[in-house]
Amino acid sequence: MTLRNIIIHPDPRLKKHCAQVPEISAGLRKLADDMLQTMYDAPGIGLAAPQVGELIRLIVMDAVKEEGAAARPMALFNPEVTWVSEEMNTYEEGCLSIPEQFAEVERPAEVRVRWTNVDGKQQQEQFGGLWATCVQHEIDHLDGKLFIDYLKPLRRQMITRRMVKLKRERARA
Ligand code: NI
Repeated sequence: MTLRNIIIHPDPRLKKHCAQVPEISAGLRKLADDMLQTMYDAPGIGLAAPQVGELIRLIVMDAVKEEGAAARPMALFNPEVTWVSEEMNTYEEGCLSIPEQFAEVERPAEVRVRWTNVDGKQQQEQFGGLWATCVQHEIDHLDGKLFIDYLKPLRRQMITRRMVKLKRERARA
């Protein structure tokens, strides 16, 4: 497995609508493995393909948070939200492409998602709690949307300026 570089906002690749995956090849299974490894290493609970520069509809996640509970690495190709609850939920979100910045975002509390798994099989599941927030946040990435796009413009601009500064500092280091 190979750790991949995570792209930091602002970057045009994080604003793109990503392409459907026509077929799950060995190369794509390797990419999913690399992304999971990169996500655990970060550490984070979700990662979308555009965050590592691949503009395709693939996300990985593991939102198990109970101490000592077994990991549940998931790779979802072409994920699609097929139902959302009326009930909403607010979580403090962060993003591996926007390091150390957090903000409360309100989203549907439960969602049903359909996707193709690494074996090419269709799967469907209803997610709640942190999983629901995570899967919606990651699917947003596939449409060029970041969690800061839910914030007021002033707050979003402030965070973006911080990221520009961070990238400048990293480039100099
Ligand atoms: Ni993110």
